[in-house]
Amino acid sequence: MTLSICPIDPVSRPFFAGVASGLDITQPLTREQAVEIEKGMDQFGVLVFHNQRFTDETQMAFSRNFGELEVATTHTVRDTEKTRLGTHINDISNLDSDSNVLARDDRRRLFSLGTRLWHSDSSFKDVPAKYSLLSARIVPSKGGNTEFADMRTSYDALDDETKAECENLVCEHSQLFSREQIGFSNFTDDERRRFAPVKQRLVRRHPSTGRKSLFLASHAGTIVGWPVPEARMFLRELTEHATQRRFVYAHEWQVFDLVIWDNRATMHRGRRYDPTEARDMHRTTVGGTRSTMAEAA
Ligand code: OGA
Ligand code: MN
Repeated sequence: MTLSICPIDPVSRPFFAGVASGLDITQPLTREQAVEIEKGMDQFGVLVFHNQRFTDETQMAFSRNFGELEVATTHTVRDTEKTRLGTHINDISNLDSDSNVLARDDRRRLFSLGTRLWHSDSSFKDVPAKYSLLSARIVPSKGGNTEFADMRTSYDALDDETKAECENLVCEHSQLFSREQIGFSNFTDDERRRFAPVKQRLVRRHPSTGRKSLFLASHAGTIVGWPVPEARMFLRELTEHATQRRFVYAHEWQVFDLVIWDNRATMHRGRRYDPTEARDMHRTTVGGTRSTMAEAA
């Protein structure tokens, strides 16, 4: 079988978000097939594969075609409980370790609501993520979409003056900053230490395509050398620009969809759903290879 990729919305977004078909990606891939998928990722930023019946093992094996997996347990507030999933699977669910739906006021659920703010995965780590691969295992009866913003096209659409202003700026990213925005602040001393801010360039150049984009995320809380309120307002304005509807694809999940996104070129956010219904999504995360501070813009 051969891979074929079509734009999901050929009229309004011909170069962003593709739907891939023709391959059973739960089975081992050839090197050539992995390279084809990576080429598709470079072009579309987001790829959707329907009806891929992954287990955690086959999802990890597929993901490793694209690099080393991040360890999933270091930057969560779930660390101290026994984890529901293995150490290389990010638990993007509203379930506890016995797979019961978390209570509405459960601290783990409230922390995870931060994923409903626009972000790029692991921008709060020194070496942020390359790809995220999200497999839908249980979806709610309605809502719970995931939206993706094309950070390349929105960068290109900035005026030259704004591009020049952004070019050499450095931000600090931390989950403390993103959670502060939703009024979640009761962090333990241990969490505050583990979630200490890291520096990231605001403008990145993609290592394969050479295209520039803004490396924004709700985790960004300061611009080095700027007064904090001015920095936050500028980051907010840039985020508003980058997430206009014309730059956004909204994915409506079906069970066993696998969506891959390139965190170096996109932002994403989750959307609301009924908190009494289960939503179970398993994410593998392919790590980047170096800090953005080591990347030449
Ligand atoms: C993620 C994420 C949003 C969602 O998996 O990294 O942010 O819709 N998910 O669950
Ligand atoms: Mn995310």
